Amino acid sequence: MEKYRINGGSRLHGEVEISGAKNAAVAIIPAALLVDGVCRIENLPQISDTVTLLYILESLGATVRMINPSTVEIDCSHATWNGADYDRMRGIRASYYFVGSMLGRFGIARTTMPGGCNFGVRPIDQHVKGMNAMGADVQVTDFIDAEVPGRRLRGASIYLDKVSVGATMNIIIAAVLAEGRTVIENAAREPHIVDLANFLNSMGADVRGAGTDTVKINGVDRLHGGTYAIIPDQIEAGTYMAATAACGGEVLIRNVIPKHLDCITAKLREMGVTVEEYPESVLVRRDGRLRRANIKTQPYPGFPTDMQPQIGACLALAQGTSVITEGVWDNRYKYVNELRKMGAQIQVDGRVAVVEGVETLNGASVAACDLRAGAAMVIAGLAAQGITTVEDIHFIERGYQEFVGKLQLLGGDIHIIDVPEEPRRWAANAG
Ligand code: EPU
Repeated sequence: MEKYRINGGSRLHGEVEISGAKNAAVAIIPAALLVDGVCRIENLPQISDTVTLLYILESLGATVRMINPSTVEIDCSHATWNGADYDRMRGIRASYYFVGSMLGRFGIARTTMPGGCNFGVRPIDQHVKGMNAMGADVQVTDFIDAEVPGRRLRGASIYLDKVSVGATMNIIIAAVLAEGRTVIENAAREPHIVDLANFLNSMGADVRGAGTDTVKINGVDRLHGGTYAIIPDQIEAGTYMAATAACGGEVLIRNVIPKHLDCITAKLREMGVTVEEYPESVLVRRDGRLRRANIKTQPYPGFPTDMQPQIGACLALAQGTSVITEGVWDNRYKYVNELRKMGAQIQVDGRVAVVEGVETLNGASVAACDLRAGAAMVIAGLAAQGITTVEDIHFIERGYQEFVGKLQLLGGDIHIIDVPEEPRRWAANAG
C-alpha cells in the first residue's frame, strides 16, 4: 500500500507553481459533452479526479487526446448518454455534472449516485429541483435517471434553498442548450463557477452574472469548439500557504489569482504570517510562533470549508485557544482524531472545534480520511518533530498534482513508500 513518509521539522523555502483548479476542471470536463466540435482545455490539473472523468467521457464515446500533461482535446461529436463506465462514476463526486450535460445535450441521462469524500449527508435535492423545474423527470435510486419529454429542457426560474456549488454549476450546464432563459437565484459565487461560465461562453453559450448570487442563462442552439485555460486552484495555493505557515520559512506561490485568496491571506496575517501579494503570485513568510485565530467556514467569499483542515493543522501549533466553526458540512472534523495522535489538543462538539495550541506536534502513523484532511496530515507531519507516515494517500492524489514533488522542491522531507508502478503511469496513459 502506498504511504507518505515524512521526516518533519524542516522550514520550507523556494517557489511552487500552482496547477489548474480541480473544482473547475471537474465541471468543465463533463460540460464538454455539450460542445459540438473539438474543445481544447489547457491548464488541466493532473490529478486522479480529472483522469477518472476523462475515462468516463471516453466510455461515452468521446475522443480524448492528451496533447501534453496539462492540455487535453476532447471531441464529443459521437458521444452518447448511455453505457458509461458506471464503476468510475460511482467513485467520484463530480460525476453528477453528467446529469446536467447529458440532459442538456440529449434530453436523457443516466449516471450513478455520486461518490467522493464523506462529510456526513451530501444531498442532491437542489440539483434535482433545478432539473425538475426545467422539465425533466428525475428518478433517484442507485442511479440517477432523468428524461425530458420532447428531449429539450426549457428555461426556468430556480431559487436554491441552499447555496450549493454543485447545484449552481449543474443547472448552468443543463441550461446552456435549453430553450429560453434560466435564472438561478441564491446561486453560489465560487471562482470555479465563474470559470465554468467563461468556458461555456467561450464555446458560444450565453451565461451572465456568474460570481454573483443571480445567474442568468439564455439558451443557445449549439456550442462550438474552442480553447480554454482553467484558472489556478485557490485551494491548492491556500494549502501551500498553510504549509509555509505551519513549518516556517519563505515560499513564493506562483500562478495564482491573489484576489481568490483574500480570505485565506487575511486569516494568515491575523495569525502573524507575512503575505505579500504580486499580480500573479503571493510570497508567504513565517518566523515567530503562530498566533491563535477563530475561523468560520462559509460559501465564497467567506473562508472556504476546503481550507478548514489545513488551517486546523496550523492552529494546532498556534499560541492560544482558537475556535473553528464549520458552516458548510456536518462532519468535516474526522482529521482531528488523527491530529490528536500527533499531540494536538482539539475538542469537537458538533460543528465547533476548540483548539488549544501546543508548541510541538510529534510524528505518528496517521491516515488521510479525505482529500483536505489528508493535506492537513501532510502539513502537520512536515511541521512535527520526527517521522510521520500518512496512509490512504489515494484521497490526496484525487486533488493535488505532484504534491510530494512540489513539497520536496520546497525542502520538505517527504517520500512515497511502497509504490506500485501502475498508478504512476496514469497521466501518460490518460489519452
Ligand atoms: N446541499 C444540499 N442540497 C444539495 C446540494 C448541497 O442541501 O442539493 C448542501 C450540502 O449538504 C452542503 C451545502 O449544501 O451542506 C454545500 O454543498 P455544495 O453543493 O456547495 O457542495 P458540493 O458541490 O457537493 C463542492 C466541492 C467541495 C466543496 C463544496 C463547498 C466539487 C466536486 N466539490 O461540493 O469540494 O467542499 O463544493 O465549497 O466541486 C474538496 O475539493 O475537497 C471538496 C470537498
